[in-house]
Amino acid sequence: MAYDDLREWIKALERAGELKRIRTEADPILEITEIADRVSKSRDRQGNVGGKALLFENVKGYPGSKLLINQFGSARRMRMALEVDSLDEVAERIRGFMDVKSPQGFLDKVKMLPMLAEMGKFFPKVVPTGPCKEVIKRDNFSLLDFPILQCWPKDAGRFITLPCVITRDPRTGKRNVGMYRLQVYDERTTGMHWQRQKVAAEHYRDRLRETQQAASLRVDLMARSSGGAMLADGERPSGRMDVAVAIGTEPALTFSAIVPAPPDVEEYIIAGFLRQKPVELVKCETIDLEVPADAEIVLEGYVNLDELRTEGPFGDHTGFYSLEDEYPVFHVTCVTHRKDPIYATTVVGKPPQEDAWMGKAVERIFLPLMKLTIPELVDVNLPIEGVFHNLMIVSIRKSYPGQARKVMNAIWSLGQAMFTKCLVVVDEDVDVHNLADVTLKVFNNIDPERDIQFTLGPIDSLDHSSRLPNYGSKMGIDATLKWSTEGFTRPWPDEIQMDSKTRELVDGKWKQLVKEIGIE
Ligand SMILES: Cc1cc2nc3c(=O)[nH]c(=O)nc-3n(C[C@H](O)[C@H](O)[C@H](O)COP(=O)(O)O)c2cc1C
Repeated sequence: MAYDDLREWIKALERAGELKRIRTEADPILEITEIADRVSKSRDRQGNVGGKALLFENVKGYPGSKLLINQFGSARRMRMALEVDSLDEVAERIRGFMDVKSPQGFLDKVKMLPMLAEMGKFFPKVVPTGPCKEVIKRDNFSLLDFPILQCWPKDAGRFITLPCVITRDPRTGKRNVGMYRLQVYDERTTGMHWQRQKVAAEHYRDRLRETQQAASLRVDLMARSSGGAMLADGERPSGRMDVAVAIGTEPALTFSAIVPAPPDVEEYIIAGFLRQKPVELVKCETIDLEVPADAEIVLEGYVNLDELRTEGPFGDHTGFYSLEDEYPVFHVTCVTHRKDPIYATTVVGKPPQEDAWMGKAVERIFLPLMKLTIPELVDVNLPIEGVFHNLMIVSIRKSYPGQARKVMNAIWSLGQAMFTKCLVVVDEDVDVHNLADVTLKVFNNIDPERDIQFTLGPIDSLDHSSRLPNYGSKMGIDATLKWSTEGFTRPWPDEIQMDSKTRELVDGKWKQLVKEIGIE
């Protein structure tokens, strides 16, 4: 059964012993980060990392308010959020939908009915009203009423870190939900940190393209490093783009906001698929967008097409501060919220933190989708310390010369996988999740000059080492066994394996030997 809202999810976490209420006073400026960071890196007796979700009930300066953090911050909680025992179950459901064959007769058609009925649950439905409208403030509101964190000492200020940002594609009318942080500038304005390759940034550029003035003034859309546009002095297109922000939604939707879905797939549908229940939406009060009815807090507003402002620095999930840059400005026109809203947030910094488990879930769920275009792909690992864009290890079933290079190029062309800075390709017998095995095989198998491929292309905006913001080089390592048809004519040695007869012989004596040798 899907969680109806954040509060049901909190109750489920509490019942499962996965949430702690914190009554000790804690300051949203730095202190809550330090606590959450320690908890997210802690281990339980079984060695599981991530501690508990924390509900702060005594936030300094915000009497009566509640702040939720680390809700996704362990492998178990991530599975609970998606209501599965294993993330592979989600991948399996996706595979099931992709495996549909044309029905051969009446019986086949009947067999498809449950699947069609299930698909009916994916689509969001607009309802007349919902809990997020319990309090409506068209005036007299301030973002500073919410316990928004300043996470790290050198952050430019307070940041809303777990927002679902909703925009509409001006060409198709489809909505996008993306998680982009918001730097609070004052009571009614924030930064809008959609990086330039993200879907909402493209909506923004599409709005720019469609403004008559913009077209006639030959706006150079590519020149500025952020989601914005370079305008000559005096050439400022007028116009706005509506933006809504939902904070504190049920977990499937919050998670869907980080999913690197193709631009034309609405995250509201992805959330419906994940929770197997439609997301209920309500219309905004002041703008033409729909937001989740169950959200704790909704910010309605707009970005001006001609306005950019310095955003950052911000302590990021790379473990470094992301540099300041120019981004659009979000003007809030109305705030609606539940009574006594719960402010949901997260901290990013040196891994592992909450986002690591969200990223791992994306890795598992996307594998079947990646296999659609890269059928030789067997498995993929994005090690948490590789911060998702720095390192990807993939295993492949190799059938023809040069295939590892083909896979590299395919991955560098695949949605947000384009950001992968270092990509390691191994044969299918290597377990990509066993970094000891990967290290052994990769560095034994390569002749670096021959097997490393460099290429140039888009780079994650958070990368501080690339030659230019958003543009730089990537490296692929072909660590597959080399074939004579790839020009390798030396014999390739066998891997050392003991024969089974000797292993069985020693197995029979092992208990006794363990005692004699004193192995634990
Ligand atoms: C906690 C968290 C914060 C994030 N902050 C940002 C951000 O500020 N800007 C951004 O472009 N992406 C950010 N991301 C990554 C995007 O949410 C992710 O790339 C997502 O797929 C973007 O949605 P879109 O594909 O609809 O554009 C963040 C992810 C997480 C988990």
